Amino acid sequence: MNSAIKICVVGLGRAGNFHLHSIKLLNQFELIYVVDTNEKLAQSVAEEYGCKWSVQLEDVLKDDALDAVVVASPTDAHFDYIRLALQAGKHVFTEKPVGHSVNEIQTCFKLAQENNKALHLGFQRRVDKNFVALKQRLAELGDYRIVKASSRDNPKPSYDYLKISGNIFHDMVIHDFDMLMFLFGALAPESVHAIGHAYDTTIASFNDYDTVLVNIKFQNGMVCSIDTSRTAAYGYDQRIEVFGEKGMMTVENERNTALNVYTKDGMSHEPYNHSFPERYKDAYLEELRQFLEGINTGLHTNVIEEECVLAHQLADAALESIQTNQTVNFSQFVAK
Ligand SMILES: NC(=O)c1ccc[n+]([C@@H]2O[C@H](COP(=O)([O-])OP(=O)(O)OC[C@H]3O[C@@H](n4cnc5c(N)ncnc54)[C@H](O)[C@@H]3O)[C@@H](O)[C@H]2O)c1
Repeated sequence: MNSAIKICVVGLGRAGNFHLHSIKLLNQFELIYVVDTNEKLAQSVAEEYGCKWSVQLEDVLKDDALDAVVVASPTDAHFDYIRLALQAGKHVFTEKPVGHSVNEIQTCFKLAQENNKALHLGFQRRVDKNFVALKQRLAELGDYRIVKASSRDNPKPSYDYLKISGNIFHDMVIHDFDMLMFLFGALAPESVHAIGHAYDTTIASFNDYDTVLVNIKFQNGMVCSIDTSRTAAYGYDQRIEVFGEKGMMTVENERNTALNVYTKDGMSHEPYNHSFPERYKDAYLEELRQFLEGINTGLHTNVIEEECVLAHQLADAALESIQTNQTVNFSQFVAK
C-alpha cells in the first residue's frame, strides 16, 4: 500500500469544508496544513482537524514533507496558488475555474507536465453517478440534436462571494460548459448567444447577472440551451436532456428521499436537495479519491486541457454576447 499523501487545504469556506470532509473519510490522505487569510478561521479549523495552520500558502509550500495542495480559495487566487504549488513540486487539486484566461489555464497544465505532478480539477459532475450513467448510454441516441440543461443554484451565494467570483458564466455556467465537454468531447462551437438579467440589484451593481440563458450551435448541427439562476425557491435544481435521432435521455434532480405521497387532496413529493453540498456529497468524495489514485498511478489530470480551454472560451463568448447584445461567431471570436 502507498504511504499517506500529506496534504494541505487552502481556503476554508464552503468548498474547503466539503474537501476537508472528504480528506477525513479517505484515510490515505493525511491533512498536515490548513491555510486561510482569515487567521481565526485557520486556527480553529486546524484545532478541529489536528493539523498545522497558516495564513500564507507560500510558507507552507516550503515544507518538503507536503505532497499535495487542494486549492479552494476564492477564484481570483486560483492561478497564483496552482502555479506556486506546482513549481514547489506539489500535486494540485483545484476548484473551478482554473484561471481567468486561456493563457493561465495553459500555463497550469504546462507546469503540471514539466514538474510531473497531478493537476485535477473540481468539475464534480463528471463523477456524479447520474451524469456518468448518461455518458455511458449516450451513443444509443445516434446523432445528438438538442441539449437542454437547467442549472439553478440554491441558496444564493453571499455577496462577498459573488463580488469576486468573476461572473455567472465563468463561475457557474462553466459547470454546464464542462458537462458539454464531458458528454460530447471538445466539439467545435459555431455560435454562442446569451441573454440575461439581474433581478438582484446588488448583483447588478457588480455588472453581473443572476439569471441567464445561453444558446450554442455546434458545427455538427447540435443546438444547446442552458438556463441558469443564482437561486431557486424549491431547492437545488440541475437537470439535463439530450435529444437525438433515436430517442431522448434525461437526468432529473435527486430528492431528499424517493417518497411520493398520494391522497384524496393530490400528490406530493419530497423536496429536491437543498444545495450543492447535499447534491454532490458522493461526487466530492469521488473526485478526491480519483485525485489520490491519479497521484499514485501517475495519471496527470481528470480533464483534458483542450476541453478545459474550450469550456473557458464558451464562457468568454457568452459574456461577450450578453455585453454586446449580439450573437458571437465562435471561431472569429477566439481568433481575435
Ligand atoms: N465545485 C463546486 O461545487 C464548488 C462549490 C462552491 C465553490 N466552489 C469554488 O470554490 C472556491 C471557493 O468558494 P467558496 O464557496 O468556498 O468561497 P467562500 O467564500 O465560502 O470561502 C472562501 C474562503 O477562502 C478564504 N480566503 C479568501 N481569500 C483567500 C486567499 N487569498 N487565500 C486563502 N484563503 C482565502 C476566505 O477567508 C474563506 O474562508 C471558488 O473558486 C468557487 O468557484 C466550487
